[in-house]
Amino acid sequence: MAELLEISHLTKQFGGLAAVNDVSFKMSEHGIVGLIGPNGAGKTTIFNLITGVYSTTSGTIQFEGKNIVGLEPYKIADMGITRTFQNIRLFKNLTVFENVLTACHRSADYSLFDSALRLPRFRREEKKLNEKAEALLSIMGLSEWRDLVANNLPYGLQRRLEIVRAMALDPKLLLLDEPAAGMNPDETEQLMNLIVRLRDEFHLSILVIEHHMDLIMGICEKIIVLNFGLMLAEGDAEVVSNDPRVIEAYLGKTEES
Ligand SMILES: Nc1ncnc2c1ncn2[C@@H]1O[C@H](COP(=O)(O)OP(=O)(O)OP(=O)(O)O)[C@@H](O)[C@H]1O
Ligand SMILES: [Mg+2]
Repeated sequence: MAELLEISHLTKQFGGLAAVNDVSFKMSEHGIVGLIGPNGAGKTTIFNLITGVYSTTSGTIQFEGKNIVGLEPYKIADMGITRTFQNIRLFKNLTVFENVLTACHRSADYSLFDSALRLPRFRREEKKLNEKAEALLSIMGLSEWRDLVANNLPYGLQRRLEIVRAMALDPKLLLLDEPAAGMNPDETEQLMNLIVRLRDEFHLSILVIEHHMDLIMGICEKIIVLNFGLMLAEGDAEVVSNDPRVIEAYLGKTEES
């Protein structure tokens, strides 16, 4: 399988703190990879480096064989990397459907001229975007909530809506930052099934951050464990969960997180 993402010796220094320290890993197409580790391990910082929100201190990030270090975040999104945030970022006063539609519009293929005159090309595109928004909502079980203001959506569904918004930009690589945070075990299990379904139906790859390995071990072909910015271990769930360094540094402390 072709490499989709290749991170080599990635380091991010905040003053004296190495939030990410010499991290290297690869992701293949159509893969689901887990990124786990205790609070402050550097997980979200890796997402911010991949998406161009933070500049790197050193190291390289290649996406589809191209170096993306130094590119503007919008450019990286255009290339096919989109994300959700650890803290939900929705338009709270817009409806569920409008939230998806505003995200779809960023990838719309018509000019301001087309839209101002409501030319056929604009109307065709609008129809396509509406259909796409409906399809995404349906897959994620949000259709019946489409006209509700996002703020009134139950918390677990707000998290799903965040994923739909990231999906609306047609990613090749979807980055999910603790998508199951605050969900109960049932909601979490349903979400994990949906993540696999998104991967399969949209032929994309997913990098998912979690605190708890047990939540993602069933769906990830590979898990990367971080601790204090350093990569502690990499492998399938069995390898990682039996690694003594992981047990000591991470699994021994799950009660705190
Ligand atoms: N913009 C910043 N400026 C300074 N320090 C930062 C910044 N962003 C992150 N850090 C520090 O980098 C370290 C890694 O943070 P990061 O948010 O990546 O951790 P995390 O693994 O996502 O943790 P959590 O599980 O709590 O979300 C932490 O010590 C954090 O305080
Ligand atoms: Mg984080």
